[in-house]
Amino acid sequence: MMERIERVAIVGAGYMGTGIAQRLAAAGVTVTVTDATPELAEAGRDRALRDVARDVEAGLLPAGTTEAVAANLSAAPTLEEAARDADFIEEVVPEVLEIKHDVLARISAAARPEAIIGSNTSTIPVHRMAGAVEGPQRFLVVHWSNPAHLVPGVELVVGEHTDHALLAAVKEMLARADWVGAVVGDAPGFVLNRLQYALVREALLLVDEGHATAADVDTVLRTTLGFRMPFIPPIAMLDMAGLDVYEKCFGLLQDELGERFSAPEVLTEAVADGRHGMKNGRGLFRDYPPETLEEINAWRAKAYTGMSRLLADLGPMPGTQTPGTQTPDDTHEESHA
Ligand SMILES: NC(=O)c1ccc[n+]([C@@H]2O[C@H](COP(=O)([O-])OP(=O)(O)OC[C@H]3O[C@@H](n4cnc5c(N)ncnc54)[C@H](O)[C@@H]3O)[C@@H](O)[C@H]2O)c1
Repeated sequence: MMERIERVAIVGAGYMGTGIAQRLAAAGVTVTVTDATPELAEAGRDRALRDVARDVEAGLLPAGTTEAVAANLSAAPTLEEAARDADFIEEVVPEVLEIKHDVLARISAAARPEAIIGSNTSTIPVHRMAGAVEGPQRFLVVHWSNPAHLVPGVELVVGEHTDHALLAAVKEMLARADWVGAVVGDAPGFVLNRLQYALVREALLLVDEGHATAADVDTVLRTTLGFRMPFIPPIAMLDMAGLDVYEKCFGLLQDELGERFSAPEVLTEAVADGRHGMKNGRGLFRDYPPETLEEINAWRAKAYTGMSRLLADLGPMPGTQTPGTQTPDDTHEESHA
């Protein structure tokens, strides 16, 4: 099994592919991009270089990054040429099953047997693609988020045949470029989209049911849940706010809104077992020694204050009054319809 990934091939030098390629190349990885034609591959490389130069100009990347990317990033005229010497090959072609199958079959025929093969699919399960790969034990989904060169999180979706031993090499490669890999199962929506679609669905239902304007739903999300989430994401928040409190609230919501708001068994069992969160030192999946509570509170104060400062410095999203929302007037009329 591959110990360390030194050479990467990116198949599909479109929007996501060039984002992935540029950050890997900036981190010192040797990267080759390829596309449906040699011209498209060259155009992808040129676009990546232009994007990096623009970000250096804007002070977002250190001086010298453009030169590093120019040295480490090349374009190959064919998929076969790009895949032949690579340790890791990622397909980033359009989200069409037939194209994925065709490209994955060609990659696995051209790649060395020990090379790791990844797919950037957002929605296609591993088990619907693995059949196209010769040696499905070396195949997984490595799902970058948009924009790949800026968002740190990457889902690593393992299928039933995926050899878990390859995860260490993929995670280490990601870490070199300051991405963070999280291993998730081959279930619909993986983790990111299942969470995201649940949240968006409720947000739109709230607007549809006339409970709040679109702008106010976004404002609530941005200034409460979203504000806290980079520091204390939902499962950690359960421990902080109290598992018993959450269990009660689930009950109230379930009475009014139905089964989709019933408390998950993992929560009710933990509460029955005396796990109430940080306040009694017993969280859902971990314990908290009493001396850490004060440190956690101090860290949280620093985090939230820093977040407020960043938002104030940054100002609203251009063209809007507040970050990430429509202008308040956009939807005012339908507010209480
Ligand atoms: N755009 C996003 O927000 C986003 C986010 C996460 C994941 N993804 C996933 O990433 C993948 C690519 O998305 P994108 O937005 O970069 O699309 P895109 O259309 O910008 O890029 C796809 C590239 O693949 C190339 N291509 C098509 N057929 C090919 C072939 N046979 N061989 C080689 N190259 C070929 C195209 O010419 C194009 O350059 C999809 O699976 C998509 O679901 C996209």
